[in-house]
Amino acid sequence: MSVQNQSVETLRWRDGKLEMIDQRVLPATFTYLPYTSAAETAEGIRSMVVRGAPAIGCAAAYGVALEALCLRTASPEDFAAGMNKAFDVLAASRPTAVNLFWALKRMRTVWDAVKEQPVGAIAERLLAEAHEVTAEDIRINRAMGAFGAELLPDGARVLTHCNAGALATAGHGTALGVLRSAVEAGKKISVIADETRPFLQGARLTAWEMVQENIPVTLITDNMAGFMMSKGEVDAVVVGTDRVAANGDVANKIGTYMVAVLAKRHNIPFYVACPLSTIDLSIPDGSAIPIEERAAEEVTGFRDCQWAAQGVKVRNPAFDVTPAELVSGLITEKGVVHQPNRDKVEALFS
Ligand code: MRU
Repeated sequence: MSVQNQSVETLRWRDGKLEMIDQRVLPATFTYLPYTSAAETAEGIRSMVVRGAPAIGCAAAYGVALEALCLRTASPEDFAAGMNKAFDVLAASRPTAVNLFWALKRMRTVWDAVKEQPVGAIAERLLAEAHEVTAEDIRINRAMGAFGAELLPDGARVLTHCNAGALATAGHGTALGVLRSAVEAGKKISVIADETRPFLQGARLTAWEMVQENIPVTLITDNMAGFMMSKGEVDAVVVGTDRVAANGDVANKIGTYMVAVLAKRHNIPFYVACPLSTIDLSIPDGSAIPIEERAAEEVTGFRDCQWAAQGVKVRNPAFDVTPAELVSGLITEKGVVHQPNRDKVEALFS
């Protein structure tokens, strides 16, 4: 397997099927799994074959298109009933990343616009939209990358949490897209990757992406970030996000809040790479963002290895919220919003 010198193709359309890299088994195994219906795609999202807010949005768009293709010979009534069920199944797959709901809304709007056409034509239109959602995501990541790269000084040592890379998007990445763009612009950038307990997106995915491209990367466990900052070994933090509230509060992978507090303590800029599709103006502040709780087994062990006492009580919130006051800037495809607040976030949509 070699993906050297090219951004990984997290999702791809092959022979009438959606294929997604199985991110649960990276980096030991690089393999694509096929998807042919909305229910299968929803399960792929739920079980984290695909993860990362923008990639989840792309997968959901393809899930809708796949279902439409499955139903392309159905009566208009059966088509509508099947499609409504597909939207519900996909919406129930994961709760926090708003890109999922953003993509479903976009697909429903497209369906509404062509509702009177033959079902075969509707299915083709929905597939074209899913392709466009995916292609657009890469363009947006490149735009964010260009804005974000300007924020990083040459030689910057940048800490990131979780994986907001090509694997979390259709390609290039959001937070890692900023780092990639800075490298492409000729800057010497080195990355400090938090391992990101409990699912290890940093250790398994971010470190792998950076190693593939020869971008210098140092892996640390999550509890080492404060030590690194106190020693002056971190110049900036760049992370991704799953949902940003109207006031600029940022939900991202559990542990991000801890990193933001540490960054403030050490006067280190804390940036969030955030496509507009991740901003949820209907949520006034971070306290209203739904936070996914995942299985206890992710905390008591990893895969077949269990290390915690049998029967111990466990909490496993998958995300936390960083208040806007700790965010130095939201890096969007429209530019950087420094010290975000409600007015500045709303202005992005005007
Ligand atoms: O649980 P995950 O792996 O889906 O969480 C992913 C993150 O928290 C990412 O940082 C976020 O989705 C941004 S990805 C560009």
